[in-house]
Amino acid sequence: MKNRTIINEIELLKTQKNAIILSHYYTLSEVQEISDFVGDSLALAHYAQKTEADIIVFAGVHFMAETAKILNPNKKVLVPDFNSKCSLADSCPPEEFREFLKKHPNHKVISYINCSAEIKTMSDIICTSSNAVKIVESFDKDEKLIFAPDRNLGAYINSVTGRNMLLWDGACHVHNQLKSEKLIELMKEHPDAKVIAHPECKAIILEIADFIGSTKAMLDFTQKDDAQKYIVATETGIIHQMTKYSPQKTFVVLPSDENCNCNDCPYMKLNNLENIKNCLKNETNQVYLSYDIIQKAKVPLLKMLEII
Ligand code: 13P
Ligand code: SF4
Repeated sequence: MKNRTIINEIELLKTQKNAIILSHYYTLSEVQEISDFVGDSLALAHYAQKTEADIIVFAGVHFMAETAKILNPNKKVLVPDFNSKCSLADSCPPEEFREFLKKHPNHKVISYINCSAEIKTMSDIICTSSNAVKIVESFDKDEKLIFAPDRNLGAYINSVTGRNMLLWDGACHVHNQLKSEKLIELMKEHPDAKVIAHPECKAIILEIADFIGSTKAMLDFTQKDDAQKYIVATETGIIHQMTKYSPQKTFVVLPSDENCNCNDCPYMKLNNLENIKNCLKNETNQVYLSYDIIQKAKVPLLKMLEII
């Protein structure tokens, strides 16, 4: 009942202000349900590029809202909670990355979209987990490449493409802690299940997985594939869409530990109906980026969006 009242208020505010709500698959189910669009990082960037709304409320994490702002410098981009950061983006501080690049000149820089706008300004092109292979393969085989900030995704792309990209040593604290021992236990318990994993997981998990892909690719796979049960090695939020599209199938989440909810991204879960309503109503928590950062970060981002 309380939720119904808030949802009605959000709907009214959206119409009055010509606003939209974009959310990532890892947000709470009720947030996904009231959103105009739910997607993975790539689809969200594409959607943000095309929207004609005046206000974008971004229920995701900070780098995603920054991406929307870079693509829409004249629109208001609001975040429900300013603490919704990303441990992976934070694992690549701009000053340290600048020093790293100085030590390794003559490399092209491919940055995973999970990085700050400032890291994007130092990059030749951006990629997401959906298009990383294609982006890396758009460079000549003998080109020297740096991949940042995710070492797990970078190592996985190296193994798929046969490249030897130099990897920044960053990781997502949610995916990186998923354990192969737990996965093997679950596989014994559910011998009929297929294992699907996000490429931010460690190599040992990816080696076991039957399918590796971005959140959207995993969702598509569970719809098209004929298995009836999946062990899902990623953040829990995606289960909402998986059960929605394939209600007859069973999804088993890979726990990091029985006693914690470590595979919930704490930053994504900061978005809720109350703070979405408040930021929309008061137009607070606006994302600001300098003109200079927007101009420089836009170049590698648009390069990616042109390729894919
Ligand atoms: P996707 O590119 O699959 O949306 O992943 C984003 C993310 O933050 C994964 O942790
Ligand atoms: Fe960042 Fe990991 Fe959360 Fe994705 S799951 S937003 S990479 S902290």
